[in-house]
Amino acid sequence: MKHWIAPSILSADFSRLGEEIHDVLDAGADIIHYDVMDNHYVPNLTIGPLVLKSLREAGITATMDVHLMVKPVDQLVSEFVSAGADIISVHPESTEHLHRTLGIIRDGGAKPGIVFNPATPLTALAEVLDLVDLVLIMSVNPGFGGQKFIESSLNKLADAAEMIASSPRDIRLEIDGGINPDNIAAAADAGADTFVAGSAIFSSNDYAATIKAMRDALG
Ligand code: DX5
Ligand code: ZN
Repeated sequence: MKHWIAPSILSADFSRLGEEIHDVLDAGADIIHYDVMDNHYVPNLTIGPLVLKSLREAGITATMDVHLMVKPVDQLVSEFVSAGADIISVHPESTEHLHRTLGIIRDGGAKPGIVFNPATPLTALAEVLDLVDLVLIMSVNPGFGGQKFIESSLNKLADAAEMIASSPRDIRLEIDGGINPDNIAAAADAGADTFVAGSAIFSSNDYAATIKAMRDALG
């Protein structure tokens, strides 16, 4: 599967969000990672479906990879589908009925994803492997950009990669948290094909050079 680099706009300059998205896309990003936080499921507050709708209306057509860190989640899933999300990922802890939530995403026409926190076992994955197009492994505790990569995530990536390999379907394996040009290759070796990077890209003064360094590391 082709490697995808997914800048997280959590670390972008929100006063110039549209421009920042155009800049990372011009710099070689494949998709845009859109972090949604509610100050309840995670201790931080970001942006909702209105902002995504505005970005679409402003002509941004890139694949939007929406990572929902909100609880409850079902109502917002529907709103993000209407706003133009392409991929919507949810945490099993954020819904009483994961199977139903993934169904709402699929029925709305978006691709469903499931997210595992550092302390959450992959147990639920076997039950919903047929229902997801993306598995996201958190390599930090969700809520903030700029945290340190948790090394044990590499083992979890490898376990998830093995489960995905048992499926005849194309399922992406994404890693999120603390990814930079120095550790991206280790994540790829463990099986990741989609790499979220927030601070590593947006805190650098040359987005294209940073994304190129990531691609060079991936080989
Ligand atoms: C954390 C978010 C991440 C975050 C990654 O809760 O899900 O997407 O933006 O930021 P970095 O790459 O700085 O760890
Ligand atoms: Zn994220």
